[in-house]
Amino acid sequence: MSLGPFKIAVAPMRETAFQKPAPQCPLGLAGPAQRIGTTDSANLWLVGVSNEDGPPPGQMSLLSQDERDRADRFHFAVDRTRFILARAALRTLVGQAAGQAPEEIEFSTGPYGKPGLKGRPDLHFNVSHSGALALIGISSERPIGVDIEIIRENMDELALARTFFCEDEFAFLSALDAPARLRAFYKIWTCKEAVLKAFGVGISTNLKDFSVELTQDGVKIHPTSACFTPALAMTRIEPIEVPAGYAGTLALAGL
Ligand SMILES: CC(C)(COP(=O)(O)OP(=O)(O)OC[C@H]1O[C@@H](n2cnc3c(N)ncnc32)[C@H](O)[C@@H]1OP(=O)(O)O)[C@@H](O)C(=O)NCCC(=O)NCCS
Repeated sequence: MSLGPFKIAVAPMRETAFQKPAPQCPLGLAGPAQRIGTTDSANLWLVGVSNEDGPPPGQMSLLSQDERDRADRFHFAVDRTRFILARAALRTLVGQAAGQAPEEIEFSTGPYGKPGLKGRPDLHFNVSHSGALALIGISSERPIGVDIEIIRENMDELALARTFFCEDEFAFLSALDAPARLRAFYKIWTCKEAVLKAFGVGISTNLKDFSVELTQDGVKIHPTSACFTPALAMTRIEPIEVPAGYAGTLALAGL
């Protein structure tokens, strides 16, 4: 199968809460999902999932009983709200793509926890949350993985890389100065998570199955074990334009 050139056309951002926060609607506050990118085979949305007053009316009623129970198990109200808003947005967007009402969506769960849509293996989606944002990707062509991470400056990224990354990734990061290293660390991290989430496998067990090379032109991945080789060769990876302070990556799995 020929993939053709892969281009992520990030839609010009309107003056939204994400681009130019207004006092009454700062970055990440609850609001409608905003489409931030379109490729020839995937659409991406960002959703603000923070709201001091809890979920706006009507959001909870979109969730299944299981999801409501899960929401009620969160210890902190902020986490409960974020979960409810992210799930409601996911149901709304997947519902639009599938032609179903959000509250009628029935999710299935893959062996390692990846949600799918019951009866629609052709409709691929994935969600990631970090801080005040959720990132949602939907593809009608290939299994998709997305990852968004809030960038934390006070972390020992080299220690994390030594433990979780491949040797060449660690060596690459070690040679960078601190600001460049932090940026590169998050690019590699979100890339690894997005790829593994596209394949729907467990993160911890497969992190070292491939290494990520950051190049002038983007990102290349190099298998380090036979595990994913054929599919990895067909995997598309793109960094995503997310608001300042976050890093994000999209991956579309090879078939
Ligand atoms: C989900 C996971 C892949 C990454 O987690 P994270 O970076 O903390 O979280 P993110 O916000 O980026 O992604 C979480 C979302 O990804 C989805 N997800 C969960 N498991 C997934 C998987 N294996 N692959 C792809 N997506 C997954 C879910 O929609 C989840 O959101 P939800 O909990 O609100 O439904 C991680 O939890 C993981 O490794 N799960 C696998 C667990 C595992 O290996 N279990 C062993 C079973 S034997």
